[in-house]
Amino acid sequence: MKFFIDTANLAEIKEANDLGILDGVTTNPSLMAKEGITGAENILNHYVAICNIVDGPVSAEVIATDFEGMVREGEQLAALHKNIVVKIPMITEGIKAIKYFSSKGIRTNCTLIFSAGQALLAAKAGATYISPFLGRLDDVSTDGIQLIQQIRVIYDNYAFNTEILAASVRHPMHIIHCAEIGADVMTGPLSAIKALAKHPLTDLGLQQFLADYAKGNK
Ligand code: G3P
Repeated sequence: MKFFIDTANLAEIKEANDLGILDGVTTNPSLMAKEGITGAENILNHYVAICNIVDGPVSAEVIATDFEGMVREGEQLAALHKNIVVKIPMITEGIKAIKYFSSKGIRTNCTLIFSAGQALLAAKAGATYISPFLGRLDDVSTDGIQLIQQIRVIYDNYAFNTEILAASVRHPMHIIHCAEIGADVMTGPLSAIKALAKHPLTDLGLQQFLADYAKGNK
């Protein structure tokens, strides 16, 4: 299972990368705005800065919602760095854009997936990744994990190469459930990734080992 971090914060990306378990990065316009990155040039430079930290796929989202605009923006993004994956929203114009990029060998991440039908269409169009938003489904009393399970079955039935990138992951149990049902990738905050390491019995056990060592080695 691949681990992506879902942020545009360079310090967090670096910290996750230094752990040695980071496979890639996802961003979106809200995450860029959260870091105060505005203006076309600053945004493009920020993507390059992220690519220079992590040696893996970095999703950069288009703002256009028409086919021509998505193609124009996507090509500009893809030309920035070999790690860039063009992130395209799941709308009908987006499906056409995914098909276009797939025919050009440019990787895509189809975002804002909330149903199995959307996931099927994106895979048919040749998306490299699809991003079902797990946490946002849970937010509206709908089982996000169940959707990912359903997509897993559909993709396996037809051996689609599209990777399921579980997004809107909020906490460590989301990551564990995604791993159990075979999501190819998860993207979440640094806090959820670091929380996987925590267990009170580990802390207590270590405290005891160090105390016992100290007693015998005064
Ligand atoms: O990768 C999608 C993600 O950024 C959405 O997460 O927590 O805003 O629902 P969230």
